[in-house]
Amino acid sequence: MDADSANMSRLTADLERAAGAVRSAENVLIITHIDADGIASGGVASATLDRLGKRYRILFEKKISEDTVAAINRSAEDLVWICDLGSAYLSEFKRHGIVVTDHHVPDPKWKGGQTSIDDFGRIHHLNPHEYGVSGSYEICGAGMTYLLSKTIDPKNRDLAYLAIVGAVGDLQDNRESKLIGLNRMIMEEAVSAGDIAVDNDIRYFGRDYRPLIQFLQYGNDPPIPGISDNGPGCNALFADLGIPLRKGGEPRTWRDLAAEEKISVSERLLSLVGDDDLRKRLFGEIYTITRYDSCTGLKDVKEFATVLNSCGRYDDAETGLRICMGDMTALEDAERNRSDHRKHISSAISYIKENRLLRERRFVQYFDAGPEIKETVVGIVAGMLLNSGDVNKVLPIFAFAEADDGVKVSARASRALTDRGLDLSFIMKTASEIVGGYGGGHKVAAGATIPTGKEEEFLDIVEDLVSSQII
Ligand code: C5P
Ligand code: C5P
Ligand code: ZN
Repeated sequence: MDADSANMSRLTADLERAAGAVRSAENVLIITHIDADGIASGGVASATLDRLGKRYRILFEKKISEDTVAAINRSAEDLVWICDLGSAYLSEFKRHGIVVTDHHVPDPKWKGGQTSIDDFGRIHHLNPHEYGVSGSYEICGAGMTYLLSKTIDPKNRDLAYLAIVGAVGDLQDNRESKLIGLNRMIMEEAVSAGDIAVDNDIRYFGRDYRPLIQFLQYGNDPPIPGISDNGPGCNALFADLGIPLRKGGEPRTWRDLAAEEKISVSERLLSLVGDDDLRKRLFGEIYTITRYDSCTGLKDVKEFATVLNSCGRYDDAETGLRICMGDMTALEDAERNRSDHRKHISSAISYIKENRLLRERRFVQYFDAGPEIKETVVGIVAGMLLNSGDVNKVLPIFAFAEADDGVKVSARASRALTDRGLDLSFIMKTASEIVGGYGGGHKVAAGATIPTGKEEEFLDIVEDLVSSQII
């Protein structure tokens, strides 16, 4: 048996054991993350337990804090199911009956529970890193949660689309402009269940609601010369191709265009983009949820994930969960959250640019948003800035924001840097622990909380680590 199939059989066996633990639990506490992947994971876990007729409650967390560890260790439920979180804190869990379906870099102090008879089986740890699978690109928290759900009952295949929402919410399709690995296998299950449709198209945001000009003008990732942030340039392009911007007085959206219109605009755009890498980012797979109409704002998987982020990152994860459970009475609240999120992101980006807050050091760039950007959103802003074409892509970006318990730091890097050896998860964990904080995540995107006043010292350490990793 080769290494890949050995890993997959081990994963299957571990999933079976964890499924047994869920089936035999009387009542369950679900703990999950507040981002799109975390809420989608919560949706999969909740639906699974509902269908089993189990009693459960669900808690949404920004991160695993000491309080969360205490709540997990003390909970009265006989099983705690931790989704999209938990792997980095395995050695802190001191109780029986824990299932973790996560994809973050695992706690190096935890040895798979096999060190003593007593430990064995205490934690069912289901994480791609344990099976030679990438937790950044090949499967997310909702994906791992879905694999367990499907093992519990194959009928739960109708939840596969939520795993796709989680993967796209975590930007796992960004590297190849399509889903790969286990994500692709799950996507194929969602397609055969009739829940997801896959197309090749321009990968910009807002195909369902932005008027055509805005769709191109605000696309920005990747930027297109003469088009991005250039309304007249976009107008000229559509005029030149003879494509009407309105129909019956109403602005047309990208989804309204006929196939041949899309092809002619796409070809023109691709000819304007300089290099192959950017062309690949612009045009690739897009995923649509078949059950929703455009007017719900949930049809495009990216938009669905944004709705979940707009809820969870602003203390309203419950609305996101209701959306995942198909409760359309939550749409109005979700729409309000999404509109607030859009405003917050756009004012955050203007704030950084207008106040010229972005500073460069030799190996890193950073900004300190203080109280102006929510700590739960500062990472999204850092990622958008990095991809906007307005900042130096050769340096990783570190973003600081005020938090209740210190200073939140979010880090993002380009794929080119991680290919050269950069590992933001290691850097954020190491540097934050040296200054008395904690952190972790993925090579390409990671976060930390550090004590207030330690920002400069933290940056010095980060800079040393970055320079030592990049070859
Ligand atoms: O906590 P979790 O793993 O679910 O979140 C992953 C985070 O990494 C998301 O915030 C996502 O936006 C970010 N990410 C990124 N760039 C990538 C991959 C992921 O900013 N290429
Ligand atoms: O918060 P932010 O979007 O910057 O998080 C980026 C990634 O780092 C996410 O996967 C998040 O779960 C992870 N993270 C972490 N520990 C922290 C903060 C963030 O593992 N203290
Ligand atoms: Zn995740």
